[in-house]
Amino acid sequence: MLKKLVLGILLISSIAYATSEVNVYSHRHYASDKQLFKMFEKQTGIKVNIVKAKANELIKRLEKEGVNSPADLLITADVGRLYLAQQKGLLQSVHSKYLNETIPAHLRDKDNYWFALTKRARVIVYNKDKVNPNELSTYEDLTSKKWHKRVLIRKSSNIYNQSLLASFIASQGPEKAKAWAKGIVNNMARVPAGSDRDQMKAVVAGVGDVAIVNTYYVGKLLNSKKKNEVMVGSKMGVFFPNQKGRGTHINISGIAMTYSSKNKENAIKLMEFLVSPKAQKVFAEANYEYPINKNVKYSKLLQSWGTFKEDTIPLYKLGVYNASAVRMFDEVNWK
Ligand SMILES: [Fe+2]
Repeated sequence: MLKKLVLGILLISSIAYATSEVNVYSHRHYASDKQLFKMFEKQTGIKVNIVKAKANELIKRLEKEGVNSPADLLITADVGRLYLAQQKGLLQSVHSKYLNETIPAHLRDKDNYWFALTKRARVIVYNKDKVNPNELSTYEDLTSKKWHKRVLIRKSSNIYNQSLLASFIASQGPEKAKAWAKGIVNNMARVPAGSDRDQMKAVVAGVGDVAIVNTYYVGKLLNSKKKNEVMVGSKMGVFFPNQKGRGTHINISGIAMTYSSKNKENAIKLMEFLVSPKAQKVFAEANYEYPINKNVKYSKLLQSWGTFKEDTIPLYKLGVYNASAVRMFDEVNWK
């Protein structure tokens, strides 16, 4: 009897819980995201609770909390982290026709464990005063003699670089990938230091002439409150490499349902909302990223950089080859 009663109470409380809220662990920290969650709350009456931290911390927290974790959704900026969470058994597969129809196949997990929300391209930027874009072509070309001591790129501990090298391993094989990494080390203008934005600042300061960065950091500089950063951004040309071949390397901000989710229906509703045209416009533009929904136009800034061919290698492979990429960076002494 008591058992039944307890079960009944548990059931009632979990139903009340399930219809009212959704809990998100997010690595994204933009005002726009807050605005979107408010929109979702208004539209559905489902309250969105957010915990913000770095992706690695969120993953550790999910591991520690186990099945008792209150989290329903995990949002990260880089597919490598989503893959890691999946490998650790922290995620569950989601079946949504809308998500599968809206998000191109290479931008979601083949077994529906994670989905892209926005897209970012890792491009070559160049000092417009010093480099003619006709001189640029591919990531591989940056290892040629012409670029000796002119290339800037951040440390190998950075997940964006790990994913870039992983994409080389996946499409070119380990030998060519290693030769590329070694070639870039040989052509580095300095020992890697700082963020993507710092690489562009170093380009303007004359330390080097080209840098490999994510596109949205150019947007961040151009829209900065600091005059110096706006100046740095305005001196950068954006070049999409490998257009005659496999295309420019892209990565994603993405979302996944946690294994522990207790508000599954609400979580799916939020996932679907975030890839809807209405949300995509706000979501992508706020961080100068590319929308993944084809029906959403690029922002003016992104349009000014032009359209480009993207590498459509299935992104889960960046996760598969992450460990090899990390090892390879060590072997070629990429700091
Ligand atoms: Fe970033």
